[in-house]
Amino acid sequence: PYLNSLQSQDCETPQLNPVIEPLSWMLGTWLSDPPGDGDFPTMKPFQYLEEVHISHVGQPMLNFSFNAFHPDTKKPMHRECGFIRLKPDTNKVAFISAQNTGLVEVEEGEVNGQELCIASHSVARISFAKKPHVEQITRKFRLNSDGKLEQTVSMATTTQPMTQHLHITYKKV
Ligand code: HEM
Repeated sequence: PYLNSLQSQDCETPQLNPVIEPLSWMLGTWLSDPPGDGDFPTMKPFQYLEEVHISHVGQPMLNFSFNAFHPDTKKPMHRECGFIRLKPDTNKVAFISAQNTGLVEVEEGEVNGQELCIASHSVARISFAKKPHVEQITRKFRLNSDGKLEQTVSMATTTQPMTQHLHITYKKV
């Protein structure tokens, strides 16, 4: 009720800010289907479940959370949340994320139709972050013709060149 009274008169979802219309295809709650695939030269391939929530509150940005779980034990694994901004009247996108591993990153790129490609501009981490450290991250999001959202994440670490770490498709729930 307090939040509602701070928002607009009614308690309905606020109107989409026109600035983020080019990213409106990302909005919603999404669940991995099938489980995501994780990989990297230094590790055994693994699978994971992920719940994604992408929303807005009428501001010219999206709010997101990505929460991964172990496919068998359902224990929480990687988690991150942040914001996706669009430079008004352009297709330039900024992606700002804080991860539970102690990593904070800014990625920038472009949205073209129902595809968003971004690459890290800056990565910061806590002083006691696990090694090897991430040096660069790239991501691609795409809405497929079957209505599923797809995310691919690649990274370069202090020991490996840019290589794919994650690939996952989500269905809207
Ligand atoms: C390992 C980064 C997302 C699961 C790692 C490593 C790094 C990393 C640097 C260590 C690589 C090495 O030892 O050579 C990231 C980044 C992510 C991300 C930057 C997001 C942008 C995820 C997600 C999952 C995941 C969503 C899903 C569960 C794992 C697992 C390992 C791993 C299981 C191996 C075990 C471990 O080191 O904890 N990741 N990761 N990661 N990641 Fe990710």
